[in-house]
Amino acid sequence: MKERILVTGAAGFIGGHTCSALLDRGHEVVGIDNFDPFYERSIKEECLGQLISRRGFSFLEGDIRNEQDVRQTLKGVDAVIHLAARAGVRPSIEDPVLYASVNLEGTVRLLEGCRQANVRRFVFGSSSSVYGDSTEVPFSEDALALTPISPYAATKRGGELLCQVYTHLYGLRIAALRFFTVYGHRQRPDLAIHKFTRLLAAGSTIQQYGDGSTERDYTHVDDILRGVLAAVEWTDSTEPALEIINLGESDTVKLDRLIQLIASALGVDPKIERLPAQPGDVTRTYADISKARRLLGYDPQVDIEDGIVDFVDWYKVTHGHKSP
Ligand SMILES: NC(=O)c1ccc[n+]([C@@H]2O[C@H](COP(=O)([O-])OP(=O)(O)OC[C@H]3O[C@@H](n4cnc5c(N)ncnc54)[C@H](O)[C@@H]3O)[C@@H](O)[C@H]2O)c1
Repeated sequence: MKERILVTGAAGFIGGHTCSALLDRGHEVVGIDNFDPFYERSIKEECLGQLISRRGFSFLEGDIRNEQDVRQTLKGVDAVIHLAARAGVRPSIEDPVLYASVNLEGTVRLLEGCRQANVRRFVFGSSSSVYGDSTEVPFSEDALALTPISPYAATKRGGELLCQVYTHLYGLRIAALRFFTVYGHRQRPDLAIHKFTRLLAAGSTIQQYGDGSTERDYTHVDDILRGVLAAVEWTDSTEPALEIINLGESDTVKLDRLIQLIASALGVDPKIERLPAQPGDVTRTYADISKARRLLGYDPQVDIEDGIVDFVDWYKVTHGHKSP
């Protein structure tokens, strides 16, 4: 049966792709986004431009911290996919109060709205950053994850705990998905793959923090979407539950290799300035995805080599870069 689904952060990177995938499957989608100035509004407007004329899509420019906006967008909704947030580890150290406001107050406002509107199905976009720097790899959802090392990570863990409360008190069925560094078409411009591609395409020098040995489990947005859609289906049961589920590729890539992959896809020699490691950055992320496989049938398909070529191709088409 086709459903009416609220997507918060609908004009953002993952939110935009999620709306599009839901519409492709014939669902009705309500989007909300406040065009937070973390990165340029024009990028978000372009993303929204591809959705707004589609049948079944409606949108409110609004704030998830605002009770009226939340009430309005939750009308008649079957399930919520909550992706609105202040993202980014390093900037959260500059402005922790704002991160707490959007990510904690915004999340509890939405959960409270769900309680009032009797919406029991909720998917929360959490993050691998909650594992901090002292959890054993591969990261398992069984780890306590009580040692975050940035305000962003703490707000994401706090969001999960708020989800737990709403399951316990009000019987919501919630999938809290811990995304591992997501990339793909329209990736956020602040994230490494997009930033490095932009700089290398322009012939500029890349600032590499640390010695290049830090590792990330980069996850293609197409794989994330498969996980998100499966999670929405999983919430379609009357049994209250909170499940925290890793969505990663379960493969790690060192930073210096990532730069080489991008440079080779662009056909350039990278110029690199080495700088000290940044506070808040973890050494390694690496997902154990056995729970996602078991509960969601999740089975990531896009490896980093193909994913980087796909990203760089998209970048060239949208930014007009010609290989030298
Ligand atoms: N991209 C990743 O690698 C990654 C990794 C882990 C977790 N996540 C999480 O996934 C979600 C989506 O991330 P993204 O990369 O698409 O980020 P994004 O910044 O592109 O999207 C977030 C959207 O939320 C909107 N927003 C911010 N504050 C809002 C508010 N108060 N009210 C309404 N809308 C608001 C922003 O305008 C933006 O369009 C976030 O919750 C993020 O924390 C992302």
